[in-house]
Amino acid sequence: MVYRRTGRSGLLLPALSVGLWQNFGGDSPSDENRAIIRRAFERGVVHFDLANNYGPPYGSAETNFGQMLRTDLAGHRDELVISSKAGWDMWPGPYGNWGSRKYLLASLDQSLLRMGLDYVDIFYHHRPDPDTPLEETMGALASAVQQGKALYVGVSQYEPARTAAAIALLEKVNIRLLIHQPVYSILNRWIEPELLSVLEKNGAGCIAFSPLAQGQLTARYLDGIPEGSRAARDRNLAETIQRNLPVVRRLNEIAGQRGQALSQMALAWVLRDPHVTSAIIGVSSVRQLEENLAALDNLDFSPDELKAIDELAPAPSGSGS
Ligand SMILES: NC(=O)c1ccc[n+]([C@@H]2O[C@H](COP(=O)([O-])OP(=O)(O)OC[C@H]3O[C@@H](n4cnc5c(N)ncnc54)[C@H](OP(=O)(O)O)[C@@H]3O)[C@@H](O)[C@H]2O)c1
Repeated sequence: MVYRRTGRSGLLLPALSVGLWQNFGGDSPSDENRAIIRRAFERGVVHFDLANNYGPPYGSAETNFGQMLRTDLAGHRDELVISSKAGWDMWPGPYGNWGSRKYLLASLDQSLLRMGLDYVDIFYHHRPDPDTPLEETMGALASAVQQGKALYVGVSQYEPARTAAAIALLEKVNIRLLIHQPVYSILNRWIEPELLSVLEKNGAGCIAFSPLAQGQLTARYLDGIPEGSRAARDRNLAETIQRNLPVVRRLNEIAGQRGQALSQMALAWVLRDPHVTSAIIGVSSVRQLEENLAALDNLDFSPDELKAIDELAPAPSGSGS
């Protein structure tokens, strides 16, 4: 495993992390779930990303991960970085969604209970809340640290200006925003024009989610939509896959010329920028995990390869990267 420094903090993260958004819900961890988590850890993937509502049902990914912490990962707590988040709908009524202090701190307590933990390593606000004052949301993140329930804090999907404002508010109470978690892949390059420079200037890290564009940047959908795949359950994703297929096929050819699987090239590409600390992948099998980890065998791109990818999937205008 390659470990990369999170911004200008003391925390190193594995270049590839595993997220439990999909495939880890249900009544108890499946044998495949347990094999994935064990194999990931053996391969040095020491960061697992969760959120209050990962499942289904909501909360079950944390409950199942808690069970694996007590069995498959028993005794390894200090070798792990475990994150959770709150910000999307979690429970009924006005106190189970968005960014109030009331919601965030109650949700963190619930996450700790589900996972059987005293603290999480990183607690995120999961999405911007246009109606709650940012002071209140950042105050809640700061309280989580001050109460010892989170070692570090982060935000997800915050726009550049809101990120800079969040950093400034946390600084007033001597807390640093450790990391930003944006969606980022060859097919979605929104962070390049501004966000990365805000993070660089302030010493914050960046951990990319859905680096495989939910499976689009793999061989999974090159010949249709297989039964049991994510797109078989998600009609919007299936439509997006259809739309992107011509570009994805061309990307697959470039990957082949590099001697890599498409998934491996997509992960290497996200990690080509040193501001990206880690990429959080989702997997539904150990086979997928192994294929993805092998991306780390070749992280280098020639200028011609980068140019060919830019032509197929350009960065938004104004990009400095
Ligand atoms: N902050 C946020 O708002 C937010 C939002 C979304 C995700 N996340 C985080 O990011 C994590 C990853 O997101 P994601 O699951 O969308 O990531 P992703 O890595 O882009 O997509 C994962 C999916 O791609 C397919 N896949 C992965 N490797 C493959 C391979 N080698 N060959 C064929 N198919 C492969 C699998 O689909 P199948 O399941 O169909 O096999 C897998 O479930 C989440 O678990 C979560 O922790 C955060």
